[in-house]
Amino acid sequence: MRRISLGKSGIEVSKIGMGAMQASSEWVTDDDEIVEAIVKSSDLGVNLVDTAEGYGKGHSEEVVGRAIARVGRENLVVATKVAGLHLRHDDVLKACRASLARLGIKKIDLYQIHSPNPWEQIPLKHTMKAMEELYAEGKIGAIGVSNFAVRDLEEARGYLSKTDIVSNQVRYNLLERQIEEEVIPYCKKNGITVLAWSPLAQGVLTGKYGPRRLPVKNTRADNPLFFKHNLVAARHLLSVLGTIGKNHGKSESQVALNWLGSGKPVVPIPGARNAEQAEQNALSVGWSITRDEANEIELACKRLKLDYFPR
Ligand SMILES: NC(=O)c1ccc[n+]([C@@H]2O[C@H](COP(=O)([O-])OP(=O)(O)OC[C@H]3O[C@@H](n4cnc5c(N)ncnc54)[C@H](OP(=O)(O)O)[C@@H]3O)[C@@H](O)[C@H]2O)c1
Repeated sequence: MRRISLGKSGIEVSKIGMGAMQASSEWVTDDDEIVEAIVKSSDLGVNLVDTAEGYGKGHSEEVVGRAIARVGRENLVVATKVAGLHLRHDDVLKACRASLARLGIKKIDLYQIHSPNPWEQIPLKHTMKAMEELYAEGKIGAIGVSNFAVRDLEEARGYLSKTDIVSNQVRYNLLERQIEEEVIPYCKKNGITVLAWSPLAQGVLTGKYGPRRLPVKNTRADNPLFFKHNLVAARHLLSVLGTIGKNHGKSESQVALNWLGSGKPVVPIPGARNAEQAEQNALSVGWSITRDEANEIELACKRLKLDYFPR
């Protein structure tokens, strides 16, 4: 499995990671299956696993901790996040200690700010100071952020003196490409890796959901991509992905993940609920779609009209 450096940190991560948000009650998943998913990913060379204190109030971190014990600490790059409610200086330090305990490790490889402080009551400067202290103490190996716009990135980086931000984790998939405008070019220019969350549009890009086939117990009800009209609108793109997939012996979702990471400093972190999904996702890299195929995807995306209002 090809690896790249996480920003300028020198921490080598596989070109695809695995998200563990599914290990929380909201997703109605089986903890054992998530552990197996991480083990399978690791067997196939995926070393980046992403979690957060906010996923199932720390439960996801505990499940990832179980997987770390199975796989071996040295075989995983562990990424977790401090929640938006814990961005005060002392809260960051406390949250980090709690995450380390739940994960059962001594150092978090990538510690990320889950989202910018929405009310701007907590100066970002205070949060970054705490992050840099954790870095200096060796409790974290690198500092990342999530859902940061370019202005947030600039501000945050301005408060760091000993290190730099190595990654920005943002929503990015073939149906939601807003970050291509500013965030990706900025990250590319400044050596920041983009970790793509919801790279499969929460399952829409697998082709398994449709207006008459919504996820059982729809935890994604609020996601406009699951509005029936949008599931219909996505059909054409899915059929293009399916045709391209056939040329390579791959599925729609594998083509979607492959496209996301190719030629850009982007590492998708698909969430998998079991080992089978994890295996499919791991095998989405290590091969390439052709230029013509990439053009076909581009055309299909141009035709796409999503409507973010319920009908
Ligand atoms: N930083 C943030 O704000 C943020 C926000 C959201 C997520 N994340 C991170 O990003 C990760 C991924 O995002 P996400 O979970 O929202 O969306 P996603 O990865 O686009 O979709 C995950 C869902 O897709 C389906 N799936 C995955 N692989 C599959 C396969 N090979 N075959 C068939 N179905 C497959 C599963 O659906 P079913 O469950 O229906 O089987 C799974 O629950 C999360 O786990 C989390 O680590 C971060």
